[in-house]
Amino acid sequence: MISTDSVSDNLASFSDANQAIALLKFYLESGADAAVEDLPRSRFGVAGVPAEPAAAAKPAPAVPATPVPARSAPPRATVTSPAAVLAAGDLAVAESARAAAAGANSLAELQEILRRFEGVEALRARATNMVFADGNPEASVMLVGEAPGADEDRLGKPFVGVSGQLLDRMLGAIGLDRTTFYITNVCFWRPPGNRKPTEAELVAQQPFVQRHIELVKPKVLVLVGAASAHALLNTNDGITRLRGRWFEYNSPGLGAPIPTLPIFHPAYLLRQPAQKRETWADLLKLKSRIAEIIH
Ligand code: URA
Repeated sequence: MISTDSVSDNLASFSDANQAIALLKFYLESGADAAVEDLPRSRFGVAGVPAEPAAAAKPAPAVPATPVPARSAPPRATVTSPAAVLAAGDLAVAESARAAAAGANSLAELQEILRRFEGVEALRARATNMVFADGNPEASVMLVGEAPGADEDRLGKPFVGVSGQLLDRMLGAIGLDRTTFYITNVCFWRPPGNRKPTEAELVAQQPFVQRHIELVKPKVLVLVGAASAHALLNTNDGITRLRGRWFEYNSPGLGAPIPTLPIFHPAYLLRQPAQKRETWADLLKLKSRIAEIIH
């Protein structure tokens, strides 16, 4: 279900019928099979239930609270040293990861080095498969999510479970599929019981994620969810504040910074379907940025 107000607000913002059709398709594919009003409407004049929805209750239009124009200098995120709060042992693991990752000159080498990496044994020992990446490594768009779940662990591929299927449908609505994007995570093994990866685990794997991005060198980076945005943008700002704003990701092995867009994680959208319209706005930004960069 989706609110009729949000449908009409969003549809009204399009001059192009094709965009409106794509939005309706996106709603349908996201599981919105009925349009309902935000407030109940009494057809019989029942006390306490407004005959028409109150104007004040109309939700805000689908625009980010603090838009950052794509052309105003975007915030930079250059990879820096890990948080000082980590224990010395964790920092030593991160240092060995950095040395190991630096030795990878291809994705195949990176995958092999990672497979032998013993720095996150609590994850590796309990996982069925390492989950490296999926999609087209030559693609211009690279997405980075959080960590594999049970389905990903079983199949050895990122985003193949329920939230991955929603992500595929969302990206499909702007014309992208796994032949036109490449996808990975900031954590390569499933955390037991689907717990969040710890700070130490993320710091230990960060050099591999950094090298992964350097080797793919995408033209646009999409950070799917808070864990990925925090790990790659060196910020603790909430995803609600970060999403929909363009950042620049940079690291020593990249010739130039990469335009980077954080978005809500599809698992969050499954729990909070009302947030899909924010994500739709973000996907339209992504679509037009891709069009600018690639054509
Ligand atoms: N969620 C993620 O962040 N990554 C996956 O691969 C699957 C679910």
